[in-house]
Amino acid sequence: MRSAARLLREGGLVAFPTETVYGLGADATKEEASSAIFAAKGRPKDNPLIVHIGQKKQLTQITREIPPVAHQLLHRFCPGPLTLVLKHNGSLAQTVTAGLDTVAVRIPSHPVALALLQLADIPIAAPSANRSGRPSPTTADHVWSDLAGKIDILLDSGPTSVGVESTVVDVTGKVPVLLRPGGITIEELKKAIGKIEMDPGLLNQKRKPRSPGMKYKHYAPQGELWLVQGEEKSMIRKMRQLAEQALARGKKVGILTTEEHQDQFRGLFVVSCGRRKEPASVAIRLYDALRRFDEEKVEIIYAESFPQYGLFHSIMNRLWKAAGGRVIKS
Ligand code: TXA
Ligand code: MG
Repeated sequence: MRSAARLLREGGLVAFPTETVYGLGADATKEEASSAIFAAKGRPKDNPLIVHIGQKKQLTQITREIPPVAHQLLHRFCPGPLTLVLKHNGSLAQTVTAGLDTVAVRIPSHPVALALLQLADIPIAAPSANRSGRPSPTTADHVWSDLAGKIDILLDSGPTSVGVESTVVDVTGKVPVLLRPGGITIEELKKAIGKIEMDPGLLNQKRKPRSPGMKYKHYAPQGELWLVQGEEKSMIRKMRQLAEQALARGKKVGILTTEEHQDQFRGLFVVSCGRRKEPASVAIRLYDALRRFDEEKVEIIYAESFPQYGLFHSIMNRLWKAAGGRVIKS
C-alpha cells in the first residue's frame, strides 16, 4: 500500500478497488500523469475524470464553492458511491476536467481506496479501470485482462461490493441534476434533499447528455446485445423464441437472465446475473456477466429487463447503453 501511494505521488498509474468498481488512478494535479490514464484506457480526451479524495477537507483545495445542498449530500452519503460535480478552482490538470469549469469529486468508502488516498494525500483522478467502451471492472482479473502491461501496480482486494459506478449529481445550479444513476438510488437522493432533476439526456437517447461520458457507447460486450422488455412471462417466452430463431440462423447465442428464470433456457448458453428480487445482487454481477459472453465469443445476446426502481434504474441505464438502443418489446 505504501509503495502504491508513493508511486501515485511520483506520477505513476495505480489500479485500486473502490466499493463500486476498480479505478485507474493518477495524480490529478499533474498533466502527464493524468494523460497516461487516457492513453492506457484508450479514452476520448473530451471525457473528464472523477477526482477521488480521502477526506472532506480536501474539497476546499480543489473547488471554488460548496453550496449548501452539496454539504447535505456529503454529510449523508460520503464516503460512499456518490460523485458531486462542483466548480473547480483551477488547481487540477486540464486533462482531468477536459477543460470544463467543473470537476466531478468523490470520496470512496472502500477501506483500501480510503487508505491509499489518505496515504498519497493528493487528489487522485480515477476512471473505471477498463479499456474504454468495455464493461467496468468489478474484479482485479477484469482489470488485468484489459490493462496488463499498461499500469504500474494493481491492488487486488477481491470483488467490489456495489458493482455499478457511483451516482453523479451536478450541484452547480439552482436544483441538483442527476447526470448518471449509480450506487446511490434516486429514491435515497430524493429522501435526503427533496428536489432533484433528471438530465434530459438520461430520459431521451436523442438528447445530448450533460455528463460527457454518457454519450459514448459503453459497457458493451463484443456480441450484439438486445434488451427484451415486457411483462415477466411474455418477456421470457420472447427471449427463448428469439434465441431459438438466432440459433437456427447459425449464430452463437447467449441469454442474460436471473436465477428465477434461468431454468427456462435449458440447452442455451445462459448467464445469470443475480436474483430478480434483489436488485443489489444483480448490480454486483452485471459486468462480470457481460464479460462472460465475450469469453465464450457469443455473437448475439438476449437480455432480461427490469422494472424502473432503486438500483434497477442504474442497471437498466447500463443495459440500455450496452444494447446501444436495441430494444425488443414482447
Ligand atoms: O464509481 C465510480 O464513479 C468509478 C470509480 C472508479 O470511482 N469511476 C468512474 O469513472 O466511473 P468514469 O470515468 O468511468 O466515469 C466518470 C463519469 C463520466 O460519465 C464523466 O463524463 C462524468 O463522470 N464526469 C466527470 N467529470 C464531469 C464533469 N465535470 N461534469 C459532468 N460529468 C462529469
Ligand atoms: Mg467508466
